[in-house]
Amino acid sequence: MTQMEFNKKFDFPTEVVKEGNVSVAVPKLEAYAKGPSEYIPSKAPVFYNPLMKLNRDIAVLALQAYRKMQGKRLSVCEPLTGCGIRGLRFTAEVRGVQKVVLSDIDPEAAQLAHFNAELNKLTRRVLIQNEDANLLLSRYAAPRRRFHFIDVDPFGSPVPYLDAALRALCDGGLLALTATDMAPLCGVHPNACIRKYGGKPLRTEYCHELAIRLLIGCLVMMATKHEIGIKVVFSHSTDHYARVYATAHYGARQADYSVQKMGYILHCFSCFHRETSEGLVPYVKEKCPECGSMLEVAGPLWIGKLSDSGFCSLMEKERGRGQLRYNARILKLLCLIRNESEAPPTYYVVDKVCDKLNLPVPSTTRVVKKLRERGFEGTQTHFNSRGIRTDADAKVVRETIAELTT
Ligand SMILES: C[S@@+](CC[C@H](N)C(=O)[O-])C[C@H]1O[C@@H](n2cnc3c(N)ncnc32)[C@H](O)[C@@H]1O
Ligand SMILES: [Zn+2]
Repeated sequence: MTQMEFNKKFDFPTEVVKEGNVSVAVPKLEAYAKGPSEYIPSKAPVFYNPLMKLNRDIAVLALQAYRKMQGKRLSVCEPLTGCGIRGLRFTAEVRGVQKVVLSDIDPEAAQLAHFNAELNKLTRRVLIQNEDANLLLSRYAAPRRRFHFIDVDPFGSPVPYLDAALRALCDGGLLALTATDMAPLCGVHPNACIRKYGGKPLRTEYCHELAIRLLIGCLVMMATKHEIGIKVVFSHSTDHYARVYATAHYGARQADYSVQKMGYILHCFSCFHRETSEGLVPYVKEKCPECGSMLEVAGPLWIGKLSDSGFCSLMEKERGRGQLRYNARILKLLCLIRNESEAPPTYYVVDKVCDKLNLPVPSTTRVVKKLRERGFEGTQTHFNSRGIRTDADAKVVRETIAELTT
């Protein structure tokens, strides 16, 4: 098809981009730029964000790893698909993906996704729908219709789709969630977070980790009503979104087991002390045991693991195996996430500690090394390049940093 024939198909300027193993028609984003700092994807008639490539690359790897674990053919649903790029990549890049349902409430998006399925010759396995996500998922909630993998990638919060997604997921199925409403989740709008996610956020230096824990906590409490337990296999976050991959397991015992990993995180803004409190019944210490200041609380939220090291290793293997040239950033990210998956909740940010103590800032690796020399766990975190996870308490962290800088 020539560019002119191609342009005639849509009422808005389009271009073809290549990502992974697919070539897709997307809105020409330059046409919607109003100013240098304006966020363009949301202005286009159909949503497409090139910056989410990393998110989609990782989604492909996670599905490849899941397929390796399952060893069977998979059915996949992306109920908020936009131009279809993500779901089409799953179809084209993950071996064993047999049936794919992509849908968008916007007719123009559904039309573009359909065009893209044809462009990539994937229509035999891909069904495109133009339907509300919850309606679509509800139609697939019956036992033999359910999906092995559902990717919920909306604007803002995925919470409105959680219930229907859980009902449309088969036993052992994998659910991926994106949340872009970081202002509520990171504590800028605490009431909005409590309203949507059922937990209180906190504006700490590790608020991105808390955001993921609040999102998982909400998923666990939603799933438990259906007697479904949740196992988190992978999660990651950048400045503007949180992403969680979790498998769902049928049964009251599985659900009870997940609920046992709900709890609270208590934080002292004066001395950096933090601690976790297990269980949904709030056990809130009022005073910091280290300095006597008032403790602040976040939760209820998930206090279990944020990733499974075995699943991370599978993803790393898949990255190595693929014909695609995944960039060094993904390799680094996967390695960091695997290393921190066994470490305790929350992290310290070296700059923040130095700021408070009025000290010059040592390198993060030196602090990690020193903590290990002193017999503690120490690892970096993907959440923040200046962050450190350790089982040392805040006093030891302060002393270690001070020792390195004096
Ligand atoms: C963030 S975009 C999806 C991006 C896409 N997943 C990707 O990776 O490029 C969210 C999409 O959800 C669609 N949408 C919004 N509300 C919806 C609903 N209730 N049901 C189905 N789709 C909806 C929007 O039209 C938009 O295309
Ligand atoms: Zn304190």
